[in-house]
Amino acid sequence: MAIIEMSDLKLKNKRVLLREDLNVPLKNGEITSDLRIRAAIPTIKQALQAGAKIMIMSHLGRPDEGSSDLQFSLAPIAAHLSKLLKKEVPLIQNWVNGFEMGSHNLVLLENVRLIPGEKDNKPDLAKKIASLCDIFVMDAFATAHRAEASTCGVIEYAPIACAGPLLLGELKALRNIMHTPKRPMVAIVGGSKVSTKLGLLDALSQKVDTLIIGGGIANTFIAAEGYTVGRSLYEPDLIDEAERLSLNAKQRGAEIPIPTDVIVADKLSEDAESSARLVSQVDDNEKIYDLGPDTIKKYVSIIKKAKTILWNGPVGAFEIEQFGEGTEAIAQTIAESKGFSVAGGGDTLAAIEKYRIADKIDYISTGGGAFLSYLEGKPLPTISALEKHALQHEKVT
Ligand code: 3PG
Repeated sequence: MAIIEMSDLKLKNKRVLLREDLNVPLKNGEITSDLRIRAAIPTIKQALQAGAKIMIMSHLGRPDEGSSDLQFSLAPIAAHLSKLLKKEVPLIQNWVNGFEMGSHNLVLLENVRLIPGEKDNKPDLAKKIASLCDIFVMDAFATAHRAEASTCGVIEYAPIACAGPLLLGELKALRNIMHTPKRPMVAIVGGSKVSTKLGLLDALSQKVDTLIIGGGIANTFIAAEGYTVGRSLYEPDLIDEAERLSLNAKQRGAEIPIPTDVIVADKLSEDAESSARLVSQVDDNEKIYDLGPDTIKKYVSIIKKAKTILWNGPVGAFEIEQFGEGTEAIAQTIAESKGFSVAGGGDTLAAIEKYRIADKIDYISTGGGAFLSYLEGKPLPTISALEKHALQHEKVT
């Protein structure tokens, strides 16, 4: 179904409310990754050039509604936006009942999740937010899976609601990869638990030619093959699911390979003594922290042949140098690949930054939960709301 796009609209002198996801990681008040802020810049510049009066709205973290806890203030983000745009971006407090923009054509509104009613998508709040603008632009792909007042409710009450270029770009890249992938298609899914990524593993096992798994997820698949994983993180309750996924893939001629060798140690630390082991020779006392050298070689050769690559999650405990070889090899192979590559998810972005390959990945999604929801085939409530709005708007005009 169609949605209205920001580029379809005349923004000159219009009050444009731009929902971005500026929920970035902070440590001691410092931004540790500004990927989401940088991703929003082209949309902001486009609206500025079109002559709009822009109010940027975002959440940060998960504060208690009604609190005024300063750790959830968007002040560091306002400062960073000012730096990136080379322009003052004032942070507006207590904005929900209306405020004056004065001579400014760009302001940032304080964390919308501090306002009661946001999380539960209360209509009263959604109406108030909508009344601030002539045009609402939903550009926050990373929050597109949340039905909240500032993402979904507002669309119902805004005079015009449309999708911004970042949101549209994300949808296009993900649609391409999931609906018209060039083959062979390889997905790499790492992370600690099968249970948190079951929907994704399920969807991908029905889509890709090879599904490479790593981390605790791989341990559960290793256990499903009947090998001991020692004291490694794995989920005995999910062994049946692992078997089902492997069988599903096999029945359609696809593969979920399990590691043939692994790196083990007795603890997760820089000074732990680690060794490579055949997967059949892991001791009861050992823990698996990375893929072994033969497995890495095999996976690298699979990824090299891929024309489409999707990456979500590291394949080992890469934050510790000696357990990072698998993740680094996968990162470098994706970086060198001529296939179309898409990556997303918090830990994946940390690995991409660590191995400095951001400019060599075709598309890096800003989404964590939204990225997974889309790939799992779940409907995104904000997109449905934009489609409904476009349909109603068409009837009225
Ligand atoms: C994210 O970081 O995935 C988005 O900003 C959504 O945040 P949430 O999970 O707190 O809704």
